[in-house]
Amino acid sequence: MGKFWGSRFDGSTDSLADEFSFSISYDCRLALYDCIGGIAHARMLGECGIIPKSDAKKIAAGLKRIGKKIESGQFKFDPREEDVHSNIQSALKKDIGAAADRLHTARSRNDLIVLDMKLYCLVELNLTIEMISDLQRSILEFAKRHREIIMPAYTHLQSAQLVLLAHHMLAYVEMLERDKGRLKDAIVRMDTNPLGSCALSGSTLPTDRKMVTELLGFLATTNNSIDSVSDRDFIIESVSALAMMSMHFSRMCEDLIVWATSEFNFVDIDWSMCTGSSIMPHKKNPDICELIRGETGTIYGNLNKLLVLLKGLPLTYNRDLQLDKPPLFESVEKMQLMLQLLEKLFQTLKVKPDQIAIQTGNESFYSVDIMEYLIQKGVTYREAHDTVGKLIKGCLDQGGRIVDLTEAQLKKYHPKFAADVKKLLKPEISVKRKKSYGSTSPTSVARQFKYWEKILN
Ligand code: ARG
Repeated sequence: MGKFWGSRFDGSTDSLADEFSFSISYDCRLALYDCIGGIAHARMLGECGIIPKSDAKKIAAGLKRIGKKIESGQFKFDPREEDVHSNIQSALKKDIGAAADRLHTARSRNDLIVLDMKLYCLVELNLTIEMISDLQRSILEFAKRHREIIMPAYTHLQSAQLVLLAHHMLAYVEMLERDKGRLKDAIVRMDTNPLGSCALSGSTLPTDRKMVTELLGFLATTNNSIDSVSDRDFIIESVSALAMMSMHFSRMCEDLIVWATSEFNFVDIDWSMCTGSSIMPHKKNPDICELIRGETGTIYGNLNKLLVLLKGLPLTYNRDLQLDKPPLFESVEKMQLMLQLLEKLFQTLKVKPDQIAIQTGNESFYSVDIMEYLIQKGVTYREAHDTVGKLIKGCLDQGGRIVDLTEAQLKKYHPKFAADVKKLLKPEISVKRKKSYGSTSPTSVARQFKYWEKILN
């Protein structure tokens, strides 16, 4: 077919300019949406008497055949056709002949590209949400397999307090649920049909945009033709939500990388997710976790690309907007791949309970528990804090342990101490005594399990 706009031009465009400006190598991902949008649009044109109904039917049948070919991977994109729209238009012309020339009535590539991009985002973000749920289930199962394990938790990467490993895992599940929420928010806001806004001002033809909205299943029709063709907020919002999620992935992976070091030795990442070193035969490197951490930079970069791309663009359509596609597609595709990898990672991750137990021996883990023991006996927080600080320092200085202190020795630190304080110095007791809502106690974790099982199954 050549270009949509050939007749106005005297000569042919420079081949280098073509190469520079053609988008078919990446916007081919939108081909099916272009057909779906075309079918609804043609039907509306027919119903409104703008084109003959017979032509509308031919167009719909032709686009359906092309759509089937696209789905089965048989459709051949022509690299000499500028973009996805001209590829579909040409294929339709070949398929149904002259009737194809009526399809582009009362629409423009400016509204069409927004339609295609919105349909792509709606489908892919919904798929991403399902994949997040799969990952959450994989983490939940992992947590349930190891529900008894107590481990150190860290602030400043310094040992802080003891928690159930499952509690730590459920923190990831919470993060991922918020990621789903952000994607869902973006979905609701983008669920409006821009088609029929045409180049920027609408059409003189008696179109029925709401009919197209209904046929395509959008929640609503865009209200302003200028905004319709200029808006790319939905792409930025999508990638922004993905960027936040990639930050979560990075933090999860960082935990695993630290836990898999020989110094921590808490977990064993499966060989299928690691590589060796070309020079150091003993090495097992957590490459997949590191790459996921690294790809966060890619997604942040894509978000930044989009923000900078849009800044300063005058309304309405500008060709710059073509460049919104690679960052969106790359972000979606990478995030979906990483979701699947993380799911496998947790399915195959091994825990080393004996090694973790060695690290839970330090009595400092109980400092807050001992403080709260005193507070329950009426001591102020400040006095309790000072007392426990001295107690721990005293033991550290003398190389002793709190469990070995006699009641009399304990009372020197504070008269409210009794021998029963030593009962607190056990990992199981420490987690079990936590009472606050959302704490790490087995009761609280069991409640969280129940909640997530209900949400995710
Ligand atoms: N390839 C273009 C894009 O991605 C399609 C819209 C072109 N519109 C135009 N007026 N040149 O934005």
